[in-house]
Amino acid sequence: MSNQDKATIILEINGEKKTYHFDILEGSRGPKVVDLRNFYKDTGLFTYDVGYTSTASCASEITFIDGEKGELRYRGIDIETLAKKHSYLETCYLLLHKTLPSAEALQDFDLELRHRSFVHKSMERLFEAFPDNAHPMAKIAAGITALASIHCEHLDITEQDEYHEMAYRIIAKMPTLTALAYRNSIGYPAIEPDINLSFTENFLFMMRSYPHQRYKRTKEGEQKISDVEVRALDTIFTLHADHEQNASTTVVRGVASTGAHPYVAISSGISALWGRAHGGANESVIAQLEMIGSVDNVAQYIAKAKDPNDPFRLMGFGHRVYKNFDPRARVLKSLQDELKETLHLNSNLMDIAAKIEEIALNDSYFLARNLYPNIDFYSGVILTALGIPKKMFTTIFVIGRTVGWISQWIEFKQDSESKIARPRQLYKGA
Ligand code: CMC
Repeated sequence: MSNQDKATIILEINGEKKTYHFDILEGSRGPKVVDLRNFYKDTGLFTYDVGYTSTASCASEITFIDGEKGELRYRGIDIETLAKKHSYLETCYLLLHKTLPSAEALQDFDLELRHRSFVHKSMERLFEAFPDNAHPMAKIAAGITALASIHCEHLDITEQDEYHEMAYRIIAKMPTLTALAYRNSIGYPAIEPDINLSFTENFLFMMRSYPHQRYKRTKEGEQKISDVEVRALDTIFTLHADHEQNASTTVVRGVASTGAHPYVAISSGISALWGRAHGGANESVIAQLEMIGSVDNVAQYIAKAKDPNDPFRLMGFGHRVYKNFDPRARVLKSLQDELKETLHLNSNLMDIAAKIEEIALNDSYFLARNLYPNIDFYSGVILTALGIPKKMFTTIFVIGRTVGWISQWIEFKQDSESKIARPRQLYKGA
């Protein structure tokens, strides 16, 4: 970051004019920022920015988004290249190590994650305590918090190796914990991870397998996990891996700022992600498509979404940052089209989604507000075809995003300018 220019701000308060100068900081990409860290000290005023629409809350080298151009890069590499030419594990390595791995480094990383994928037996007992129909997001948030009490040593880490061990552990255990939460909720026996399987295949295996490493039997034989299924889910994980300072990442950094255990910060991120305005939208999209039920009903729901007196919103539409298109949605849409036949995707839901898209993308309400399909609009149909139940959709987002949260946590800890998150307020009370 270099400071080249100064921002001159003239404030006229009660007839008195005062001039202030603030540094303008320039990053490597994106808009410059005015450094307002001394604004209150210099002027006696706070800035007011509900929802942080104009505030850069930190400096980061991890992810860059240009919302006008629909651009998303992890460590400088665009998302389309990562999704199409690299695996999720390569992407994880990139986020944590700032570079793509060599073949040998990738193999070491992969092996380490496989061996760290087991979770403490107490997790099963913890999940037993939940009611049968408990939402898996509640369970995994609790599970990760419980893991903080098992890996207490991560509370005080300073060495690079310790940061990486902590990160590998949580990334490796998240799919196991998630599959366990699911199987527990339907009363199925837990399936342990198989270290012979890759990260993504292992997750599908733990979700789907029968005991003794068997899959469902049909007249045609055993329904094994196909390479196409693994690639589809791997791409979904990659597309979710990080997304700069979104709501859940801001929560993770906020918890990091208090000095709490990193896994508790991740657990807070999971809770923030659960909401429908954020990661919970993928579950809501499918529920909404099912509720609309038929292409013939789309127009009436579009009308509801446009009605200012109706709280109904089109789930999977709109984004705070993307104003032309969400590049993750583009990759998923083409993946959906590509896999339509192979994975027998639900054509009725796809037709309803296509109709919504067609109407909305030509409607002045959506055009004027820059509302385009986001990543959550397309993920659900593919996840359903992979046998992932609707209630588990947001946990898929969690598995993919864990590496992003933990990379942001590490960056926060290693940034000498980091401070406790402590915003001010405009008080309107008595
Ligand atoms: N359907 C209908 N109208 C909408 C929608 C929608 N999905 N999203 C925004 N609007 C309207 C909103 O009513 C407002 O209109 P007006 O100016 O007349 O009051 C205008 O567009 C701006 O909306 P906003 O809520 O001020 O925008 P925001 O940047 O604060 O919110 C959002 C962004 C994603 C929360 C919002 O677009 C939304 O609720 N979308 C549906 C939920 C969704 O799909 N979330 C997933 C986001 S992508 C995954 C992730 O990264 O989390």
